[in-house]
Amino acid sequence: MSDVLRLNDGHMMPGIGIGLYKVPPEQARDVVSTALEIGYRSVDTAALYENEAGVGQAVRDSGLAREDVFVTTKLWNDSHGYENALRAGKECLARLDLEYIDLLLIHWPCPARGLYFETFQAMQKLRDDGLVRSIGVSNFAPEQMDNLPELPVVNQIELHPLFNQHELRAYNTVHGIATTAWSPMARGRLNDHPRINDIAAEVGRTPAQVILRWHRQLGNAAIPKSVTPSRMRENFDLEFTLTSEQMSAIGALNQNQRIGPDPMQFA
Ligand SMILES: NC(=O)c1ccc[n+]([C@@H]2O[C@H](COP(=O)([O-])OP(=O)(O)OC[C@H]3O[C@@H](n4cnc5c(N)ncnc54)[C@H](OP(=O)(O)O)[C@@H]3O)[C@@H](O)[C@H]2O)c1
Repeated sequence: MSDVLRLNDGHMMPGIGIGLYKVPPEQARDVVSTALEIGYRSVDTAALYENEAGVGQAVRDSGLAREDVFVTTKLWNDSHGYENALRAGKECLARLDLEYIDLLLIHWPCPARGLYFETFQAMQKLRDDGLVRSIGVSNFAPEQMDNLPELPVVNQIELHPLFNQHELRAYNTVHGIATTAWSPMARGRLNDHPRINDIAAEVGRTPAQVILRWHRQLGNAAIPKSVTPSRMRENFDLEFTLTSEQMSAIGALNQNQRIGPDPMQFA
């Protein structure tokens, strides 16, 4: 299993990235620097997280070539609409202070606003102008992706063993859209689950590693968040294999139980 996903526009995205939701702005540079030292080459931020500046600082200070780090950011809900999104995308890039953004996502579809089509068109323009390499969405349903001017490269969605999104993953796969799992570890709700603990004991790994490996074997990218260096290391060390029985056992934990908001309602 390769540790990168080929996106439908030809760009490559690492299978594991560091998530940065709730990482305070003043901590972001150090967290991302540590992640890059450990070997992470993908970073997930958003305008909402207010830590893009720290991400850019860490990437610039890392000594890595710009093309060796994959930076994702997202347009917040108040930035929908063509002109708004154009401005907001440029502001993301200015805060990151990098040459370009690897992947720009619409954070939520906000169906009540009815503006995601125009928002996506603005992202096409940002890509055509070279500010962004790839464009995608987050929290989108099939009927919303069908309505876009072109297929997104990624749909980043809530996805973990308690909410395994079987149908949405299948839609993404059939359309060549990469699935990235947010809250891949259900924000700790599975740290002490008996079935996951059993599998962790069987393979001599931690519960978090078992869950992240499950994602990778399903073909999902995952963006686990941690500010704890030992956990960041653990989450990046996934060189082992789950059997098909272990994969099925984790698949059977699904309860269709969201942690986050329902994207059809969230504005
Ligand atoms: N697109 C969207 O709408 C959306 C929504 C939510 C999140 N996201 C993205 O997805 C990322 C991940 O989601 P998330 O932060 O909600 O949840 P998560 O990654 O499932 O869980 C993070 C929590 O698990 C802990 N943790 C991390 N590694 C661990 C380990 N090995 N063992 C035990 N505990 C561990 C972290 O603690 P410490 O940090 O204290 O170590 C933190 O409390 C976010 O950071 C963000 O980038 C996107």
